[in-house]
Amino acid sequence: MKHTGCGAKRFRVARIPVIMFLAAGLTAAAVAARPALPTAHKTTPWWQHAVFYEVYPRSFQDTDGDGVGDLNGITAKLDYLHDLGVDALWITPFYPSPQVDFGYDISDYENVDPSFGNLADFDRLLDAAHQRGMKILMDMVLNHTSDQHPWFIESRSSRTDPKRDWYIWRDGNKGGPPNNWISVFGGPAWTFDPRTGQWFYHYFYPQQPDLNWRNPAVEKAMFDQVSFWLKRGVDGFRLDAVANLFEDPRLRDNPVLPSLVAGSTTEHQEKEIYDTDLPEVHTELQRLRKLTDAYPGRVLVGETWPPSMAGLLKYYGPDNNELQLPFNFFFTKVSKLDAAAFRSEVEETERVLDDRWTTWVLSNHDLTRAYTRYADGRHNDQIAKILGTMVLTLRGTPFIYYGEELGMQNNDPKTIDEVRDPVGKREWPTNKGRDGERTPLPWTPGRGAGFTTGKPWLPIQPSARTYNVETESADPASILNYYKALLRLRRESPALLDGEYQTVGDDPHVFAYLRKAAGQTVVVALNMSADPQRLDLPATGLGQRSLKPMLSSLGPADEGTVKRGITLKPFEAMVLSAR
Ligand code: NOJ
Repeated sequence: MKHTGCGAKRFRVARIPVIMFLAAGLTAAAVAARPALPTAHKTTPWWQHAVFYEVYPRSFQDTDGDGVGDLNGITAKLDYLHDLGVDALWITPFYPSPQVDFGYDISDYENVDPSFGNLADFDRLLDAAHQRGMKILMDMVLNHTSDQHPWFIESRSSRTDPKRDWYIWRDGNKGGPPNNWISVFGGPAWTFDPRTGQWFYHYFYPQQPDLNWRNPAVEKAMFDQVSFWLKRGVDGFRLDAVANLFEDPRLRDNPVLPSLVAGSTTEHQEKEIYDTDLPEVHTELQRLRKLTDAYPGRVLVGETWPPSMAGLLKYYGPDNNELQLPFNFFFTKVSKLDAAAFRSEVEETERVLDDRWTTWVLSNHDLTRAYTRYADGRHNDQIAKILGTMVLTLRGTPFIYYGEELGMQNNDPKTIDEVRDPVGKREWPTNKGRDGERTPLPWTPGRGAGFTTGKPWLPIQPSARTYNVETESADPASILNYYKALLRLRRESPALLDGEYQTVGDDPHVFAYLRKAAGQTVVVALNMSADPQRLDLPATGLGQRSLKPMLSSLGPADEGTVKRGITLKPFEAMVLSAR
């Protein structure tokens, strides 16, 4: 099955009613230095105890009124992120780009697209983040460039151009493309170029030709781009589409699937064998890791979509010498709020990855927002809080997608004319594209949601009137304030940061677990049902110890201690400490 947003579209659900919150004033954000957040972690590398936050810069904060967010907007909102309690930002691409794939088609790896600012703005952002003890990860696209990148322009100019072999050019087969490979965005993965009479390969849009990583000059050129940002001081990279760096040299046809993957179009009826996850991908990642390891404290996060946990394990490398944090996307495949399904993903992660450090992800700029995916129409906010509790208390590094902390919903285009994402135009209405999960972050209930004074590049979602930073900051029961409390609790708890994980019971409605560190044990209990549920303490394996509630998603945690068991209200998440 293809990934990158397409497969995930089958999780879409109906429109969700909103809940009203009180409006109130927002504290003005100052951009002065602030101390790093205190944390209870002792010895682990920073990226193991950090909470990451994905910023989609087009939609975060616009400071020049063009309706598109910019780097200065992120700098202006660093204090919001610091107050929220996140430690590291992954910013999706802001390099010069024709924006066919909204930045994932890069035409210059060593600069900033004018719509986002310039290199000086980036340096200021990095510096301001570092002054707050926060880290910045760039998004690095190694697999392909834009067709407007000078390398490709040269490469396509003639069959004998020195850069011809930097991309993958082949003769056609019986008048058609060289083989049956399909682009993740639909249609053949090959485009014919009449000028030189050959086809070029693109796993994504035709405007994103794949680089030929078997050519050592390509590796050198791309490693130079990576070094450019390392020298500038970035703290690491989220690596785009790493599984696709290499293709079968014999270009064998992929097997055609006998039936359609649910929710996808006929254009995705292919089993990817010869264009994904080839052994050379791993040798290349080891070489890249050597490069980044020369810069202490940097981290490599990878966009990895293997079909199984065993496949994910390979991305750590035989000697843990590939990616430190390959994305564990298996939660995004859990299609409904289901305690047994989430428990099973966590247990599989713990069993297969063993002591390797995982990531927890609910959504990103390619996937329908978690709020929308799991909402039942009646307990939407409670469910969002349960999900937040889960990713922020499991053993591993959590990634929050911007706006998740507010309960942002998908706002999909209503007609094909509204669609901006090309894949949405091509596959409408089966796949409406990824615009819905990329809409502007609402800062205030007012016009432009405090995001822009101009016309936002994507419409502000209707729920922004109540689900926005200003309104939620003033409501003690908001999702935002709950996230803040959770993040504070996590930061101060050695068990939540570093402790072992242990499943409690196998209740079909309650996902419960322990996190245990020397001197502290924490119990997390998540009632994923609309009925009250009982968790008996003997079932936790904690014997005669008593528990003290630390946080409840449904209001102030009870101050008393618990000896025999707890009753969880419908859709309640509780975090308790054992004494
Ligand atoms: C994965 C990115 O997350 C997605 O947004 C992009 O379209 C593709 N890779 C191509 O770069």
